[in-house]
Amino acid sequence: MDKVTLLKITEDYVRSLFINKEPGHDFLHIQRVRKLALKIGNSVQNDTFLVEMVALLHDVEDHKLEDGHKVKDFLDTIDIEESHKEKILFILPRLSFSKYPLLPNDFPIEGKIVSDADRLDAIGAIGVARAFSYGGNRNRRMYGSEDSSIKHFDEKLLILDQYFYLDETKRIAEKRMEFLKEFYKEFIDEINEE
Ligand code: ADP
Ligand code: NI
Repeated sequence: MDKVTLLKITEDYVRSLFINKEPGHDFLHIQRVRKLALKIGNSVQNDTFLVEMVALLHDVEDHKLEDGHKVKDFLDTIDIEESHKEKILFILPRLSFSKYPLLPNDFPIEGKIVSDADRLDAIGAIGVARAFSYGGNRNRRMYGSEDSSIKHFDEKLLILDQYFYLDETKRIAEKRMEFLKEFYKEFIDEINEE
């Protein structure tokens, strides 16, 4: 099967899984990560097929809760090179911030690229919107509790720029980080206004 066909089948598979997910984590997130990953990928490699496949599949399973079978079963149904399949199945379970905040230097570049793209989508204006969507979906407070959305900024989002791998990512991240910090500061100021 040629790469264009494989990508189309994978896109259709992922779209069907993500179509009704919450706004911060739906198929639009997958498409944004795919686009960002391609942009970063194109700055360092010629063939971005694996980058695109990993981006499309990166959220199919929550590896904190699942064992990787869903993606394996899917890949078994398509005519993809064995070495490509193995690489995808090696990368995916390791793209977890809580388990592997920093990947080893020799980790496959496709994994670093998709990790960068996923984290870029967690900062900037989109990142702000996603954090409140995530919290809102779980009926959490915006601020004033341990599990509030704004707490997530302190714990993760505001330090994400220490966890980027590629130069192109760092370039894209600059404006987004600046906005995120500005938003955070304004939010805290408004809450504390007399
Ligand atoms: P992904 O693997 O796509 O980053 P996550 O489930 O970790 O998926 O997060 C989805 C979105 O929700 C991200 O934008 C993330 O910053 C946000 N998010 C995750 N955990 C929290 C939380 N406890 N409070 C607010 N936002 C969160
Ligand atoms: Ni994601």
